Amino acid sequence: MASLGLHRLRAPALGRCPPALCRPHSTQASGRRRGAQAFPALPGALLPIHTHVYEANSRNSARCRSRYMELLEKVKLGGGESAILRHTQRNKKLLVRERLKRLLDDDNFLELSPFAGLALPYGDVPSAGCLSGIGKICGIWCMLIANDATVKGGTAYPISVKKQLRAQEIAIQNRLPTVYLVDSGGAFLPLQAQLFPDKEHGGRTFYNEAIMSAMKIPQVAVVCGSCTAGGAYIPTMAEETIIVDRIGTIFLAGPPLVKAATGEDVSAEDLGGARLHSRVSGCVDHFAPNEADAYDCARMIISTLNFEPEPSEHPEYEEPVYDPEELAGLAPCDYQHSLDVKLILSRLLDGSKFLEFKADYGTTLVTGFASVEGNLLGVVASNGHLTHDAALKGSHFVQICNQRAIPLLFLQNTTSQDHLPPNVSKAEQLTNRLKAQACMMAAVACATVPKITLVVGGCHGGESFAMCGRSYEPNFLFLWPNARVGLVDPYRLSWSSQKDEGRTDETEFRTLLSRLKEESSAFYSSARLWDDGVILPQDTRHVLGKCLKIIRQQRYETRFQRSPVLRM
Ligand code: COA
Repeated sequence: MASLGLHRLRAPALGRCPPALCRPHSTQASGRRRGAQAFPALPGALLPIHTHVYEANSRNSARCRSRYMELLEKVKLGGGESAILRHTQRNKKLLVRERLKRLLDDDNFLELSPFAGLALPYGDVPSAGCLSGIGKICGIWCMLIANDATVKGGTAYPISVKKQLRAQEIAIQNRLPTVYLVDSGGAFLPLQAQLFPDKEHGGRTFYNEAIMSAMKIPQVAVVCGSCTAGGAYIPTMAEETIIVDRIGTIFLAGPPLVKAATGEDVSAEDLGGARLHSRVSGCVDHFAPNEADAYDCARMIISTLNFEPEPSEHPEYEEPVYDPEELAGLAPCDYQHSLDVKLILSRLLDGSKFLEFKADYGTTLVTGFASVEGNLLGVVASNGHLTHDAALKGSHFVQICNQRAIPLLFLQNTTSQDHLPPNVSKAEQLTNRLKAQACMMAAVACATVPKITLVVGGCHGGESFAMCGRSYEPNFLFLWPNARVGLVDPYRLSWSSQKDEGRTDETEFRTLLSRLKEESSAFYSSARLWDDGVILPQDTRHVLGKCLKIIRQQRYETRFQRSPVLRM
């Protein structure tokens, strides 16, 4: 597949005409005028006054993009060349991306967190040893969770478990049938103490399988490799399972352990191969003579789910009037380089059209209605500090969208606040602001409509919660590569301010600062799965459009039932 994932190569936005000279590019597909198409257009032209900031941001975006491409190349190699050879030539298995390609309708695949697992304290685990993402099978959006056995035999590291749990959470939130491609040696034993037995450890994956089934979220497994120990429960707890002859095995302990325990020599095939499980144990339901047949079988099973495929006709929509490539120059390299967020919106929204709500009140937050690729949504965008008025406006708007069942898009660019109020009146002002922010946090937490969060700049301090940070359970949370994530904003710390606060050791401060900067990078965050992936600004519109389509599938959701499907 040319581009499994979010990774479409685009020319960088650098070297374009100076911002002041940029003209709106042409609009397409005007079509029938729907509600959102009648909204007023945002003024999005870049002015000479923006040039300095635009250029600094563009230079930073180019650096971020190179890092992004470098990491992408790295994770595509999985466990490396020798592991790939072992997998394909000795074990005669398809590589994980090839498997997905055979299973999915097309390459319209939203890969999630490809950078998870990079540069962790226990080393590099490319893509956390398992790919996850959303693609269509027989026209139905499905969550795919697929082990990459080139990464230490597909064994589960703590980050692999976290990635699988997040994928299941997304499947639950968005009602997505889930397909597991299982090829795993079970727990990565050197880290076993971090994999068992806590609530969010390995066992939670199997617990979720039952809960998801009880929620009528169908799950199908394809055993296309080893399913050892914990790995054995995934296919056994799925509603329907296929096993590939001479490639798939399921057992709690493999032949070496049996030999050690009983002295008996037994082959993997006899202990837990495809014939045994399809004819004797009943742990699987379908026998496939080879991998290609297994994926065809999985597709046929998905067609029996009785889900309604996405309509093939989509509403027509307009492209933004202003060029999304220019987003690279609007992606702030730090909080001081943030331009009016409406410049970003005018490059993300259909026809650059926006029906603003409370335009003149609490202007450090921009709220209003728009559409992306024909999907109506409510926008809540940071445009400075979340002041008292801005937070009240945010609370009001979030409740309106919830009332009208309109999905919410948060564009987050927050910074940490100054801690010490200089006088009593300032303290009172801050307390009032705190109260208003608490209101907005409650409104966001309790809104039951789907939420998507995009961190376009900073994700710092308490304001990030009101802007639907990770702990507020957005359906999806993506970062631009220039984004910075951390309790405090290291770019606002200076040696002179630290000296005033009593710090004496400048070297120690500089070391701390460089650590804070490294730990607040978007790639550091994504490696730890604090988000669902880093996306390039130019690709954002397309990613949002896809998420909004995926989210719509939940309207096909049927009522809860009392029990999961039990394998008998
Ligand atoms: N923990 C840690 N590392 C493991 C592992 C485990 N459970 N299982 C395999 N690995 C590592 C191997 O050491 C090897 O590492 P290397 O590339 O640095 O040499 C790599 O994964 C691939 O294993 P290998 O046996 O060479 O590949 P294979 O394709 O022939 O077999 C398995 C893969 C998973 C089938 C096989 O390794 C196996 O059966 N492992 C034991 C599984 C087990 O007992 N799990 C119990 C977990 S509770």
